[in-house]
Amino acid sequence: MTAKLIDGKAIAQKVKDEVKAEVEKMVAAGKPAPGLATVLVGDRVDSATYVRMKQKACAELGMESYHHHLPGDASQEEVESLVRQLNADPKVNGILVQLPLPDHIDEEKVLQAIDITKDVDGFHPINIGRLAQKGREPLFVPCTPYGVIYLLKESGVQISGANAVVLGRSNIVGMPAALLLVRENATVTIVHSRTKDIPEVVRQADIVVAAIGKMEFVRGDWLKPGAAVIDVGINSKPDPTKKRGYRLVGDVNFDEAKEVAGWITPVPGGVGPMTIAMLMRNTLRAAQIQNP
Ligand code: GUN
Repeated sequence: MTAKLIDGKAIAQKVKDEVKAEVEKMVAAGKPAPGLATVLVGDRVDSATYVRMKQKACAELGMESYHHHLPGDASQEEVESLVRQLNADPKVNGILVQLPLPDHIDEEKVLQAIDITKDVDGFHPINIGRLAQKGREPLFVPCTPYGVIYLLKESGVQISGANAVVLGRSNIVGMPAALLLVRENATVTIVHSRTKDIPEVVRQADIVVAAIGKMEFVRGDWLKPGAAVIDVGINSKPDPTKKRGYRLVGDVNFDEAKEVAGWITPVPGGVGPMTIAMLMRNTLRAAQIQNP
């Protein structure tokens, strides 16, 4: 192994410890503890797990969480009306609507209904628009891409002037990660399903962010030696040696990549824990904005 392993779990813990200390200070000063509302529509098992992890993190850091579970056949109006109710609730500093929403719900309208000062996911069109524009500051940055940049900086990877390749152009990860890398002065290429000769594009990259949702897609011989590889993928790979019958792997072939890369994040224990840590950071910031 030549690559340095980026320990997302340890870095996320450091972020959470800092947030916890700030929350303690706020409470000691007589201010209310930050509160996060989570909204789950339907019964997707993965979404329910993610929401539970977010609530658990709130409890660990001394924050309040308020969970709202709507049935999978809830109407557009019911979801938007819940969001408006949370906008008006002073105990709620941050609102997280877990995505994806059921197909019959217009996601953009729901995200647009969130008060931008409570948009701790950073998905409100105004916050995303500001992220894309020079000289504008979003109030919040989407948690997973924010975690990606944080890991690169903590690891001492030079972003300014680097060639960065982002695989995937999702609203949740790929596109905001690319926008953030541009803000950090990287030269950014986005790879997607219509990109020609993906291995050759990836070979130019000093920084690779893999968020394409394909198991072990990025191969070791696609990487420039010394590249920083951030793997956002979470895929279940059948593994009969495991009690549960599978193990989690990323969008990068880790065993090959670790022999070529300069830095690499493991799956699990890389980007995953950072998403929640950055959500906690955003929720603290929301409370600080609302109760200065
Ligand atoms: N689904 C997958 N990732 C996320 C996230 O960061 N926030 C929300 N709200 N939903 C998600």
